[in-house]
Amino acid sequence: MRISKVYDVLAPMYGRVVPVLYELATSRAAQRLSAGAPATILEVGVGPGHILTAVGKRNKSAVSVGIDISRGMLNQSRRALKKHHVGANLVCGDAIQLPFADGAFEGVVASFLLDLFQKRNIPDALREMLRVLAPGGRIVVVSLQFSNPVLKQAWMLASHVAPGLAKWIQPIDFREFLEGTGLRVLRDEQIPGAPGTRLLTLVKVVG
Ligand SMILES: C[S@@+](CC[C@H](N)C(=O)[O-])C[C@H]1O[C@@H](n2cnc3c(N)ncnc32)[C@H](O)[C@@H]1O
Repeated sequence: MRISKVYDVLAPMYGRVVPVLYELATSRAAQRLSAGAPATILEVGVGPGHILTAVGKRNKSAVSVGIDISRGMLNQSRRALKKHHVGANLVCGDAIQLPFADGAFEGVVASFLLDLFQKRNIPDALREMLRVLAPGGRIVVVSLQFSNPVLKQAWMLASHVAPGLAKWIQPIDFREFLEGTGLRVLRDEQIPGAPGTRLLTLVKVVG
């Protein structure tokens, strides 16, 4: 099944459950992105829109855009943004080919998106995020990473029992992909209360 269809099916349940489970990661991601005071913000793989909503509440004057490949997820986003009176443009599209101009955004966030790609495609997605990011802009990446050995073992066992699981979400060490990209790590943090969640705050170095 195509990934857009998978998320169309998951969207109603995902929109209810995940924002509650990952509330701390959401607010931390919004906080780290907003600290750069971006005037233009893009969330790639916006899903149910909880991060874009949190960023919009903090940063009322920013122009925000969310993109997702699943229309079901975009509907969830639309509802969340409306409920919280946050304005943003929502676009259906692919992270690998973002329909935006070079340097169009001062802040870009991707949460639990890159973990869905095959490892060989992650550099392509990262290249697109970097292309649309303005010089000096910030990227916040939230991903699954099991540094705790118990979680790591549990994940390996789960993906052995259900190999489909490993196909759809794979813990990654995003730092592996940063070499030569011109991104500098500002912060690298584990999120307490959101098991296996790592948040990287990066800045696009100018020149
Ligand atoms: C695991 S969910 C994460 C949603 C949200 N960012 C969060 O933190 O809860 C992944 C999202 O990425 C979207 N997605 C998957 N592949 C994509 C692609 N190639 N381009 C754009 N969105 C994609 C899915 O439709 C889904 O909404």
